[in-house]
Amino acid sequence: MTATRLMHIAASPRGSASESRQIAETFLDAYREAHPASVIETWDLWDGSVPEFGPAAAAAKMAVFAGDTPRGEGAAAWQAAKSAFARFDSAEHLLFSIPMWNAGIPYILKQLIDVISQPGMVFGVDPHRGYSHLLHGKGKKAAVIYTSAVWGPGLGSTFGTNFQSTYFEDWLRWTGITNITQIRYHPTLTGAADEERRRAHANARERAHTF
Ligand SMILES: Cc1cc2nc3c(=O)[nH]c(=O)nc-3n(C[C@H](O)[C@H](O)[C@H](O)COP(=O)(O)O)c2cc1C
Repeated sequence: MTATRLMHIAASPRGSASESRQIAETFLDAYREAHPASVIETWDLWDGSVPEFGPAAAAAKMAVFAGDTPRGEGAAAWQAAKSAFARFDSAEHLLFSIPMWNAGIPYILKQLIDVISQPGMVFGVDPHRGYSHLLHGKGKKAAVIYTSAVWGPGLGSTFGTNFQSTYFEDWLRWTGITNITQIRYHPTLTGAADEERRRAHANARERAHTF
């Protein structure tokens, strides 16, 4: 039997100062305790490893959609997308740490989504029945740490709108990953940050033990 693989996909560039990353470390410590045989990898999305998805890649995607084979620069861009997808797809268990950026997600995570969300990798599409979700049925599950500083559940729209978890989980479900655990840290500007942080770390520990 092969060991379960957990991949932590880290979307904050703030290293050890990052709240979401610190909560992720708490999750990983508890996960390691509960699953000593598992293999854990962290993918820091800011380390230069996420390929661009520009003109050549977009042309390659449209070529594949039309049933053609990408050529030249397009072939290289398509190969880079395939490699990134293979890395993403190598783990059954996924942990994402995601700060809110301008109501949404950091652009580096959107870049990863744009790189790996390809026909034949993440999705299929039928003109009449719509999308199929190619990661469905592969035993995958995701834990997602969401943080923000101004927006919080229950605050009015003058504190922003949550396109962070709504967008991200729509994407996860589109891929076929529907087993999703949320861990949240939203202290807000008037909240008790220390207390909220303690609660978020305790929640991360608890969720990791049963993940
Ligand atoms: C570029 C940027 C944009 C941000 N946009 C928002 C936002 O729209 N709403 C919000 O509540 N907090 C926003 N924040 C605050 C972060 O979401 C918050 O501090 C979060 O906990 C940071 O996570 P990290 O410490 O893991 O990087 C933003 C922070 C940065 C750096």
